[in-house]
Amino acid sequence: MKIAVPKESAAGEFRVAASQDIVKKLTDLGISVVIQKEAGITSEISDQMYQEAGAVSAPDFNATVDQADIILKIQPPSAEEVKALPKGSCLVCLMNVRSDLTAAKAVAKAGVTCFAMELLPRISRAQNMDVLSSQSNLAGYKAVIDAIAAYKKAVPMMMTAAGMISPAQVLVLGAGVAGLQAIATAKRLGAAVTAFDVRPSVKEQVESLGAKFLETAKIEQAETTGGYAKELDEQSKKNQEEALLAIMPKTDIIITTALIPGKKAPLLITEEMLKRMKSGSIVFDLAAEQGGNCYGTLYGKTVTHYGTTIFGQSNAASQLSASASPLFAKNLYNFILPMIDREKISLNINFEDEIYQAACIAKNGQLLIEESTHV
Ligand code: NAI
Repeated sequence: MKIAVPKESAAGEFRVAASQDIVKKLTDLGISVVIQKEAGITSEISDQMYQEAGAVSAPDFNATVDQADIILKIQPPSAEEVKALPKGSCLVCLMNVRSDLTAAKAVAKAGVTCFAMELLPRISRAQNMDVLSSQSNLAGYKAVIDAIAAYKKAVPMMMTAAGMISPAQVLVLGAGVAGLQAIATAKRLGAAVTAFDVRPSVKEQVESLGAKFLETAKIEQAETTGGYAKELDEQSKKNQEEALLAIMPKTDIIITTALIPGKKAPLLITEEMLKRMKSGSIVFDLAAEQGGNCYGTLYGKTVTHYGTTIFGQSNAASQLSASASPLFAKNLYNFILPMIDREKISLNINFEDEIYQAACIAKNGQLLIEESTHV
């Protein structure tokens, strides 16, 4: 059995889908692991480190995936790469199917069995496979670090003989995985943090991190039975908007992470709110790829409106590739392990299992996902 790990070719992607640890675990099972030359270089993993863990190096994408049973990647393969994937092989990576089905259609046509990691059901059994969580956690941290680096004032309170510096006021909107990490990071750096989420169960978690939960007039219960956010009704949206408008003049840095599964990101920071912020304020919009939580956010760009700088950077976790790659690799390992018959060392996928059923988007030349999955 052969597992292939190509070098990522997408712009701005510095991660790699295998770590030395995972290579060692796979080769110890008797699986042959082939890694494309310099695949790990941008995550500080050299070819020699992979070889010491038992992997074989291949010169290019085609040689890496040749005769592979499983291909592990971070990003969807390019059109050119799809042509080299062996028919009947199994591809495991992010496929970004909620925004674009091009790659999914191409792999289905190529007869590749494909699992889109962003479609894993969010059940406890899938928690250690969940790349969205492991990467969101790092993204939440990195957003705060980058926002603070761009902010021209000190963040913690400082008492000096020359006077006092007040702590920066940080607002975090959306307190899921990324938001909770953003709160913890901003607190550690000395900011005064306020946060808000539409799921009422989050208030306690926000407060346990030492942040203040933003008080609003009544907001409807916006949580599904599965624990996810729903879109707010019009009155609740108005109530949220009023509470946000009121705190804008004293807010210095905003980190937005609010998402509603399967929908465009809700617009939370309006043009009017930006006008009320002090010049030099910062917004880091982690929801930029899904349309953004802030007026004026441009995906992949930094823009300034009314004196506030708005970051819409893509793929924040990739900027921390040396931390992100080992976590991503461990998630993928946990996902593929149950697919392998360890006695025969061959693929044995249980497509009835809800995890594999939900993530499988292509099988036997068929695309198993509908256009309506799009946001
Ligand atoms: P997410 O990335 O989909 O959304 C981020 C946050 O935005 C959520 O907390 C959501 O409630 C919030 N939000 C939506 N609309 C908003 C609005 N108008 N204003 C303010 N906030 C708004 O969520 P994430 O981080 O993926 O986690 C959501 C839940 O799923 C959490 O309870 C988490 O623990 C759970 N989860 C479970 C997993 C598993 O069991 N395998 C894996 C990952 C998360």
